[in-house]
Amino acid sequence: MTKNPEDLIILGIESSCDETAAAVVKGGREVLSNVIYSQIDIHTLYGGVVPEIASRKHIEKVDAVIKKAISDSNLTLEDIDVIAVTCGPGLVGPLLVGVSAAKGLSYAAKKPLVGVNHIEGHIAANYIEHPDLKPPFLSLVVSGGHTHLIQVKDYINYEIYGFTRDDAAGEAFDKVARAIGLGYPGGPKINKVSKEGNPFAYDFPRAKTDGSQYDFSFSGVKSAVLNFLNASKMKGEDINVPDVAASFQQAVIEVLVEHTIKCAKNLGENMVAIAGGVASNTALRELFLKRGKEEGIEIIYPSPVYCTDNAVMIACQGYYRYINGFSADLSLNATANLKIGDSI
Ligand code: KG4
Ligand code: ZN
Repeated sequence: MTKNPEDLIILGIESSCDETAAAVVKGGREVLSNVIYSQIDIHTLYGGVVPEIASRKHIEKVDAVIKKAISDSNLTLEDIDVIAVTCGPGLVGPLLVGVSAAKGLSYAAKKPLVGVNHIEGHIAANYIEHPDLKPPFLSLVVSGGHTHLIQVKDYINYEIYGFTRDDAAGEAFDKVARAIGLGYPGGPKINKVSKEGNPFAYDFPRAKTDGSQYDFSFSGVKSAVLNFLNASKMKGEDINVPDVAASFQQAVIEVLVEHTIKCAKNLGENMVAIAGGVASNTALRELFLKRGKEEGIEIIYPSPVYCTDNAVMIACQGYYRYINGFSADLSLNATANLKIGDSI
């Protein structure tokens, strides 16, 4: 007997960076379980993610994380209809652990397998808490590895309107945090300390690029902060960490928000969904809500637990790929630089 799509049970698996995650989702939107094992404590010792250590930790944890996701959902492996796994972009070693686990399970349990693009997964995280959200809409994906302005045409088709020419927004947050002595992971720490600072204390540059009017560049603002820190040090002046953090954050979020609003207006989109780790940033959310209200554009974002890497978003997107006729065979591979729209 074939199931109705809304009854399909999807197991999602995510291991593209430093989170080993598995989740069970029903009908693409109803979360039955969500398990995330974060390696952050280990990588904090090194000031960033060490790919080889991440791969080894994923190998140690992946089976237990998958088993827990299934048992937390009060189901058994037999009840799972489809296995969805992140196959890129990300760190190739970590990705391979998830892909291999998913292929093994798919083969042994005779369940269909679906490969999911991690960036598409971040966008799909918005479907979970916004049951009425349907494409088309515009999405800004801001994470440690990506800054993309993407029109979601339907559940599986996208058009990219802007991307970063150099550093991703989260990467800039992490590098500046390290430089001002806040440590790893930088985004949440800058976000927190900025609440005590003046965002207009320093006028760090708002990035301009020669490319598309919607493209981003964050290496300029990062270098401006580093130059400012060096100059202060040479003059023997102490810096005000909250002011520097808040002014850097302001320079980044203004560009993210203004490019997104301009793109939405030009495309006639009145719905913007932000996604990815940096979408947790409270100043970014506030500025988006304010500008969205002024321009008549609805702004939505996932709860922080669905902004950071997780497997619920992979199960959601896996669901939409599966019901649209996509599945993978055992030749599915990890692709570190997988692009939006690449065939999987
Ligand atoms: O999406 P994600 O968990 O992993 C990637 O796919 O990269 O994003 C991680 C990034 C890191 O750069 C982290 O510093 C940043 O998201 N991040 C934040 C905040 N929370 C996480 N950046 C700014 N403000 C935050 N509250
Ligand atoms: Zn991510």
